[in-house]
Amino acid sequence: MSTLPTQVNLTESSSRDGLQSLGAFVPTEAKAGLITDLAATGLRTFDAVSFVSPKAVPQMADGADVIAGVEGREDLELYGLVPNMMGLEFALEAGVTHIGVLTAASDTFNQRNINATVDESMHRILRILNEAPGGLTFRAYISTATHCPFEGEQDPDWVAHLAETLIEWGADYVFLGETIGKATPAHVDRLLDEVLALVPAKKVGVHFHDTYGQAVANTVVALERGITMMDASAGGLGGCPYAPGATGNIATEDLIWLLDGLGIEHGLDLRAIADVAYRFCDKHNLTYNSKAGRARLASEGVQ
Ligand code: HMG
Ligand code: MG
Repeated sequence: MSTLPTQVNLTESSSRDGLQSLGAFVPTEAKAGLITDLAATGLRTFDAVSFVSPKAVPQMADGADVIAGVEGREDLELYGLVPNMMGLEFALEAGVTHIGVLTAASDTFNQRNINATVDESMHRILRILNEAPGGLTFRAYISTATHCPFEGEQDPDWVAHLAETLIEWGADYVFLGETIGKATPAHVDRLLDEVLALVPAKKVGVHFHDTYGQAVANTVVALERGITMMDASAGGLGGCPYAPGATGNIATEDLIWLLDGLGIEHGLDLRAIADVAYRFCDKHNLTYNSKAGRARLASEGVQ
């Protein structure tokens, strides 16, 4: 195996990506409690909430209150995902200093998701980056980075061009969103060939969904290419309301098991995270979707 990083930074996405597609509203205190409990296990960076239209995604209508309800929030990096200037304003009012902005690589998904062509959403991002006050940290997501649910496989050159542009415009990091979990290691390899030719690995993160069961394999490819930032979701919760059939991100517990096996430092506790996520799923009637977490809990007779 080629040289691997010695350490990675994991972003926990369960309270945002993990919950956004659910029909039944998860109470605000439960969302804030999920972040608080996961933070108590050692997680520090959260893809916590989004500030989007409540008509588009009713589940995320309570972003500001969720942030306010997180215990010890001043010690955490809580990202708020914003699709436009209005979202940025709401995020700033909520005291959020870590901002996720988004575009997709494909027009059809982007139109359905945020009612903008790729060109339009890139210009929304430019405006956000130009008009935001100083002192914020920005990560820019490029959804459908390998596959669009409507347009199929994406051109890695095009995605690399978007990534380079976002970094040139001032985004601190660019996150490659594998929105529908169709990519295999070969797709990720081809994408990273192009992206890493234009953007240094330390500015690139990956956001793999696990719909086709490829997220662990895809993560290995990213690690081999020197990428150290990755999103994951405790209990494998997640999906996108505008990507039919897409399931959750790589489960945080599965990622930790992989990292442990590869000897990569992460500072996290698989057992403690599994316990929080399992109890959350149980309470809210959700399927607990981490293979490693389930195995670990079963070995202790928890399930
Ligand atoms: P639009 O209809 O074009 O927006 O939607 P608009 O500007 O015409 O406004 C329509 C209404 O929304 C107005 O309210 C606005 O005030 C309100 P009304 O007058 O009708 O009462 N509005 C807002 N309210 C709260 N916060 C805002 C906001 N903006 C407008 N920021 C819009 C465009 C972008 C707003 C809409 O399409 C939207 O909110 N989309 C978000 C969809 C979403 O959240 N998708 C999931 C997140 S992306 C994802 O999961 C992918 C990722 O995980 C990576 C991956 O997996 O690839 C990140
Ligand atoms: Mg996602």
